[in-house]
Amino acid sequence: MADISLNLFGRKLKNPVMNASGTLGYGREIEPLWRVSEMGVYVSKGLSLKPHHGNPTPRVWEVSSGMLNSIGLQNIGIDRFLEEYLPYFSETKTPVIINFFGFTVEEYVGCAERIKDDENIFALEMNLSCPNIKEGGIGFGKDPNMVFNLIKAVKSVTTKPIFAKLSPEVKNIVEIAKSAYEAGSDGLTLINTMPGVAVDIRKGVIPIKGGLSGPAIKPVALKAVYECRKAVPIPILGTGGIMSLEDALSFFMAGAWAIQVGTATFVDPYTIPRIIDGLKGYLEHHGFSSVSEITGITE
Ligand code: FUM
Repeated sequence: MADISLNLFGRKLKNPVMNASGTLGYGREIEPLWRVSEMGVYVSKGLSLKPHHGNPTPRVWEVSSGMLNSIGLQNIGIDRFLEEYLPYFSETKTPVIINFFGFTVEEYVGCAERIKDDENIFALEMNLSCPNIKEGGIGFGKDPNMVFNLIKAVKSVTTKPIFAKLSPEVKNIVEIAKSAYEAGSDGLTLINTMPGVAVDIRKGVIPIKGGLSGPAIKPVALKAVYECRKAVPIPILGTGGIMSLEDALSFFMAGAWAIQVGTATFVDPYTIPRIIDGLKGYLEHHGFSSVSEITGITE
């Protein structure tokens, strides 16, 4: 019998499938369709020390093979999330990764300090890669020294494992991954969106400058996972254009320990449960007893 559970940081997750941050709201919104506890982990929307209003509309724009978004990290703030939303994940025994960001180093540290030692919080995901804000975000994530210093600072105030979420819009993502690892990052999330724009030809204007996600960036994400897995010995959460079980399998084989589904949920909100169901069947059919047997099998 194939077992799709995943042992990570001493904890047994029921499966290696998660949502990508910001694509499933605060979690409960999806519940009329399926239970958030079906996933191995729920990844929170990006949270900051103070609530943040985000960018003006339009914030999303469909393009061929993907989507542009410029939400601008709108969120209710870390304190409200911990008070109002975290208890639900504890009740439903759903491990949570808290994705967080700051506009300054102090804000990253302040936010991490607020995240209490709740056993239901499985890990933290540091957003070092948002293309849609003027300060912080990708500005921090492009500089290996900045990445090192930020992660070191956050590690000094938390005992939770940290995943650094990196941008593909850098000279050399492997170099950034090495800096994150040397600073003590326990894992990596690869990749965030790639900057792009759309043109509205009826008006002759650029309606949105944002982050491109979806199938268009899958090969870029796979390359990042494949190359970084060879460069650093820490778990990788692979994300970028996963629309199907076949896409998920590609990420495992390239070296991802677990995967995150984002844009696909906007196309078909049942993509995540379908991938979870399909994974077990695939492993059994091909004679594998666990996902780890296919993780990183590509040379
Ligand atoms: O605009 C946004 O909220 C996007 C965030 C991100 O890509 O990290």
